[in-house]
Amino acid sequence: MFQVTIRTLAPPETAAALPALAEILSDCVEGGASVGFMSPHAPGDAMPYWEGVARAVSEGHTILIVAEKDGDILGTVQLGIGMMPNQPHRADLKKLLVHRRARGLGLSRLLMTAVESEAAKHGRHVLVLDTATGSPAESIYEKLGWQRVGVIPQYALMPDGSYCGSTFFYKSLATD
Ligand SMILES: CC(C)(COP(=O)(O)OP(=O)(O)OC[C@H]1O[C@@H](n2cnc3c(N)ncnc32)[C@H](O)[C@@H]1OP(=O)(O)O)[C@@H](O)C(=O)NCCC(=O)NCCS
Repeated sequence: MFQVTIRTLAPPETAAALPALAEILSDCVEGGASVGFMSPHAPGDAMPYWEGVARAVSEGHTILIVAEKDGDILGTVQLGIGMMPNQPHRADLKKLLVHRRARGLGLSRLLMTAVESEAAKHGRHVLVLDTATGSPAESIYEKLGWQRVGVIPQYALMPDGSYCGSTFFYKSLATD
């Protein structure tokens, strides 16, 4: 039986997590996910991105959550909370990523539960995300109660250079 832990990283904890996060991002890109980067994408290529995320965490603009399986970081998600002054109640969900060797174990479901709970804790009750149209993630967000807004065709590129559409979703955590 494996053990899964979900943790929100405090700023001093982020540096130690960067190599594992870079490995996850690289694995997702090489697995064909449209998550901002092109193939080939080695873990070393992902480090500058994660160093930027670490800075955003230390500045209080991003909440970084990781999923550990048997002590190894194998999944992650972020919540962008550095919004304009007229959107203090909103947040952007970003980079839900699970390493291929830990997929299908429920990590993304646990990460999504944790990120929604962090959003509520920070008074963010309007959440927005986008994902590659037709990707497995698209059906997961629908299953988790996110509302599909629509598709922008040819919004981004797949890692192999072909176009992909993006499906935009929102979720309202407001109770009234
Ligand atoms: C999308 C992703 C995060 C799912 O992670 P995961 O940990 O394997 O997902 P889970 O095991 O938590 O599964 C969650 C639900 O989705 C379903 N699911 C998982 N993979 C699926 C797939 N490929 N196709 C359809 N459904 C799938 C599961 O059956 C589960 O449903 P259930 O809880 O009702 O049984 C993972 O595949 C991934 O990292 N993909 C590449 C990166 C990516 O595209 N991220 C999204 C960026 S917006």
